[in-house]
Amino acid sequence: MEVDIITTPKGFHCKLCNIDMPNKPSLDEHVKGRKHKTLTDVRATRQAQEERSVFVSGFQKDASQTQLTEYFQRFGDVENVIFDKDKGVYAIVQFSEIEGQQTALSQLVHEINGQRLRVKPREKKGFKLINKKKTDFQNLQEVLERLKPVLVQAETVNEQMHCVVERIQLTENKKNARALLVQLIQEVFTEFFPDSQIMAFGSSVNTFGIHSCDLDLFLDLENTKTFQARAKSSTEPVAEASSDDGRSEDSILSDIDLSTASPADLLELVAAILKKCVPGVHKVQVVASARLPVVKFHYHQLDLQGDISINNRLAVRNTRYLQLCSGLDARLRPLVYTIRYWARQKQLAGNVGGAGPLLNNYALTLLVIFFLQNSDPPVLPTVDQLKAMACEEEECVIEGWDCTFPSQPIAVPPSKNEQDLCVLLAAFFSFYATFDFAGSVISLREGRALPVTSFIGQTREETTQEEEEEEAMEEEQPRQPHNQALKLGPLNLLDPFELSHNVAGNLSERSQLNFQRECQEAEKYCRSLQYLRKSTKGKPWGLVRLFTPHGEGPKHKNQDGSADKDMSISIPFRLALLPEGLRAQLQQAGDDFRPLWFQRVCVAVVQVFQNVLKCGPGSLTEPTPAGDPGHADAAPGSCVSMDATSEELNTSNDSGVAGQDSPRSTAAAAVGTKRPLSSESSDASTSPQGKKARLGRGPKPGAPCWTWSQTHAVWAGRRKVRRELVKETVDSRPEGSSTALETQVTEHILEKQPRVKVPLVFRVQAKLVGATQSTKVLLQIHPPSEGKDHFRDFFHFLEVFLPKMVDTLMETTM
Ligand code: UTP
Repeated sequence: MEVDIITTPKGFHCKLCNIDMPNKPSLDEHVKGRKHKTLTDVRATRQAQEERSVFVSGFQKDASQTQLTEYFQRFGDVENVIFDKDKGVYAIVQFSEIEGQQTALSQLVHEINGQRLRVKPREKKGFKLINKKKTDFQNLQEVLERLKPVLVQAETVNEQMHCVVERIQLTENKKNARALLVQLIQEVFTEFFPDSQIMAFGSSVNTFGIHSCDLDLFLDLENTKTFQARAKSSTEPVAEASSDDGRSEDSILSDIDLSTASPADLLELVAAILKKCVPGVHKVQVVASARLPVVKFHYHQLDLQGDISINNRLAVRNTRYLQLCSGLDARLRPLVYTIRYWARQKQLAGNVGGAGPLLNNYALTLLVIFFLQNSDPPVLPTVDQLKAMACEEEECVIEGWDCTFPSQPIAVPPSKNEQDLCVLLAAFFSFYATFDFAGSVISLREGRALPVTSFIGQTREETTQEEEEEEAMEEEQPRQPHNQALKLGPLNLLDPFELSHNVAGNLSERSQLNFQRECQEAEKYCRSLQYLRKSTKGKPWGLVRLFTPHGEGPKHKNQDGSADKDMSISIPFRLALLPEGLRAQLQQAGDDFRPLWFQRVCVAVVQVFQNVLKCGPGSLTEPTPAGDPGHADAAPGSCVSMDATSEELNTSNDSGVAGQDSPRSTAAAAVGTKRPLSSESSDASTSPQGKKARLGRGPKPGAPCWTWSQTHAVWAGRRKVRRELVKETVDSRPEGSSTALETQVTEHILEKQPRVKVPLVFRVQAKLVGATQSTKVLLQIHPPSEGKDHFRDFFHFLEVFLPKMVDTLMETTM
């Protein structure tokens, strides 16, 4: 079967064209059809172009297309030069033959007018169909343009926030129109399914709706099932059985047994009724592959997109919970609207078509509520506290999950927190700017961050990052049964009721990093006068600047906050990718899992430099740079050269792995707990998550440091060597996924390529960052004083290669 086609419970789905097909004949027809053929051809052309192209950066801002064409022409015929949108940051140089690309890549140094260029293979991007219809994001963008002058005129940030709510919320008129539509659908469905009930949930009714939001409906067939069962068991003829409101069983109920029919069959039926019997409804489509299968439709008169599901009682209940939270504190709505808007602008939320690697609105709202549970004093109670305030009649269990909370806000004492919106908004950003996403599972039930290690053994089959991104781009995964384990990811946010569901399980690592980075940027901005004080000259201030779209604000810094020129590489904590044995050890370590993981990463880092890249020991001749962030916490003596660690190797064997060649012992010795503590995690006690979950309070590791030397350009032309080697062997895995292959590549380069003029002696310092930031190892690379330019290429190679290789080594050897 074609690679683009997947089977689904309801037939087939073409990933390339994003189309569902109910059966094999329609699949065959589709595959032979014009759309599929055209897209297949376009994709093939794009892929061929990618193969023949190089990615170039580092040129002067005013460099022209002709200049780049002229320069690259020497490697092969240049077909096209495409600049980035901002012009001057990067360019794609497209050769007419693949040889041109290879020759360009095999040259180590590239220069135009004395300016060093960086030339890399072009990143391969998956081909995706772009929806030409105006997106929700574009609509919002237009709203902001109209909103800007109004916000600039407001007197305070609080006023601005209320203004955002007023302008983008679902108006009463629209709410009423939606209610009428729900009534119409209800009437039609009652004809076919006596005693059935249609209930709206999600943004239409959860008090956070915006004017373009969709209409989520739940069709409750429980009473209809009872009605049908009663009719069946009755001695009366079926056609004479009647519902509570005196209706007769319709012929549809004679055809289908609701208690045994599959959800897919029921949805087909729902779709047929919608299509044929509800005036104004069109574009009806069953999406059976979603986490919760739905029937999608469009309602012409209101230009409204709707979804009907038949198994979503929990969503109706969590919608009630959001309504309750809004009723508990009037600050929640303006905060959620503002943060949703900000997240849209920064491209952190708003998956097209509901699925994708970004945050969904429900998840974002829960993040706001969790923050408010952790403010001091709390603005909102935890879900467990709410449960304790509910009376007996309010007890509610759905699908085995406890969903009890008071039905009215009056049952809950008001918060003692009096902070105004402006302060709370800034506090939201600082809360998540330093939040340890990788090491925590956010629990609104308990109102605290639980250590991720306590979920080991309860996690679902692990998937790689690539698989996760792909998964996220597909429709959401089918709903998990009650005892199903939690799917851990870069951001773990437990649903307040369905405790096996990670509401942010679709999020890619990149999205999580972007979210945190944007929070850091926003936090910084919120400390400035431009946030707090109205401009007397009518310039953008307060929320207007905060809403600057992604990519239009000041240049971003690296993940660790350092400026671009800093050489640091980060290796994030990704529990799902670790081998089972190590996961078990981390679980045993409890809250102290970080130092143990750090130690293992260091072992792998040493292996990469020593065994895979064949770096030799370097001597420590250069003093530690003053004020160097990498050294800020390291006391004299905490730096270990390779010579020194070799010595330690012979004497220290506390990890239980001995041997002259064992880099594991090397790093284990270097990460001794006697070393000075990193100041990085010392503020854990002030963070709500640190305060409650006591994360990262164990023995803190030091900052081991190694000095290496490299005599060959082991980074240059690796791809070509790998390709040649792969031809001879069966090992065809991608870069960084095979230790043996990468070691062979290095050996080949050492054997065949000349030495570099001056050996590159550089230092690598590892630091564990965590507790109040996402857990990761930060490797600060200190370049040699000689051959710095050469070294930059090595560094760029390491940036990509090292984290991949460390993952591979951790997976295979620990
Ligand atoms: P959305 O994320 O679509 O939120 O989830 P929304 O508030 O309706 O925002 P729009 O529609 O994008 O404007 C819709 C509803 O689906 C349920 C929740 O009830 C949520 O309000 N839901 C969503 C879950 O129960 N679990 C999830 O993981 C996601």
